[in-house]
Amino acid sequence: NEGKLWGGRFASGPSPELDALSRSTHFDWRLTPYDLAGSRAHANALRRAGLLTDDDHTELLRGLDVLGERYAAGVLLPDPSDEDVHGALERLLLDEVGSDVGGRLRAGRSRNDQVATLFRMYLRDHLRPVAGGVLDLVDVLATQAAAHGDAVMPGRTHLQHAQPVLLAHHLLAHAQPLLRDVDRLLDWDARVASDSPYGAGALAGQTLGLDPTLVAVELGFTGSSANSIDGTSARDFVAEFAYVCAQVGVDVSRLAEEVILWSTREFGFVRLHDSWSTGSSIMPQKKNPDIAELARGKSGRLIGNLTGLLATLKALPLAYNRDLQEDKEPVFDSVDTLEVLLPAFAGMVATLTFDTDRMAELAPQGFSLATDVAEWLVREGVPFRIAHEVAGACVQRCEELGVELDELTDEQYAAISPHLRPAVREVLTVAGSVAARDGRGGTAPVRVREQLDELRTRVASY
Ligand code: ARG
Repeated sequence: NEGKLWGGRFASGPSPELDALSRSTHFDWRLTPYDLAGSRAHANALRRAGLLTDDDHTELLRGLDVLGERYAAGVLLPDPSDEDVHGALERLLLDEVGSDVGGRLRAGRSRNDQVATLFRMYLRDHLRPVAGGVLDLVDVLATQAAAHGDAVMPGRTHLQHAQPVLLAHHLLAHAQPLLRDVDRLLDWDARVASDSPYGAGALAGQTLGLDPTLVAVELGFTGSSANSIDGTSARDFVAEFAYVCAQVGVDVSRLAEEVILWSTREFGFVRLHDSWSTGSSIMPQKKNPDIAELARGKSGRLIGNLTGLLATLKALPLAYNRDLQEDKEPVFDSVDTLEVLLPAFAGMVATLTFDTDRMAELAPQGFSLATDVAEWLVREGVPFRIAHEVAGACVQRCEELGVELDELTDEQYAAISPHLRPAVREVLTVAGSVAARDGRGGTAPVRVREQLDELRTRVASY
């Protein structure tokens, strides 16, 4: 059992099969810089508690620095005999500073409080690239929105033509949830910041008079866990982070689905830039929206990471259980996935060319101005229930005649209802329809410009 962190009470070493199952260095090695930072803070705590001489303390810090430099240079590697990153780094530290000094560092800490702290630190650091990637996408959506000022498109519900909207309004409707995702990440961080488990020991705390608060502050937290059992065994912070990643995936996937539809011949709303689309190995004419499809596909993977994690956590008794070693790969994967996906997706959106003529042509079709007719009647004093009936009768008449609402004659309108004076035509244009929706949050150009300004102010405030 030489080299193991826990060999003392065992007469024989672990079977190779157990070693193979137990090993986590292939995924937790990336926690190395955080483990070393934790060890530095812990050495300082031991020093403050009078449990390390100045010389031993200095020597430990030197050893930890050497390991940090070797890790940064890419030459610090775990050995197949190492169980996890914590054990491997202790072994490497002993090699560097000798076992007399190196063997003092583990006093008063457990891998349980270590890993729970390091994992928080890792996610807090990786929040930035994820949030940054989301904000870049928001920025691209805002730029596309600004570039298309008053361009209109068919707004849909149930994927059927509903009412005309501004293209900019629609694009910003994708930006809003992404901004909320950034807020979710920041909310998450505020909660995690005050909850450093270092000092919780295996579960019950430690007897050596170490101060968890000072360790916490040294590691960039504002405070330490209120409950050592909770600190070492809770993983809701992991699930919550994985949820936000999954939500980003879902938000991106909804836009991805639209880009895929919009780029079909039938829609013809967008053209993808050559650098951000792919071809077919057999069909020479093909131009495929692979980035959007990969985004849609990867959202499934991000959801899977969250649900797998929740399934692992469900029914785990307090406190630490080894099942918890399964908590890292899913959320590491979520972070890695978003770090690759978001820049590609933003590049695709930034380079979309919209066929605004085609969108404008389709915007009034499918009787999408029927609500405008009904609301015009309401302004004429007609109760909405009747107005709705009358506008519906107009649609029915159009369908019989095979025309759109603006193609009915004055006589045909009057025959449907005496309320339908020729003046109804003033609301039968797309520009009039969108301009009329000028309440806050509406699709009127003036409101959409206001929305864009507010959004940009918010983005700039992060
Ligand atoms: N590698 C473990 C994990 O990732 C930490 C070690 C705790 N192991 C233990 N036997 N208490 O959760």
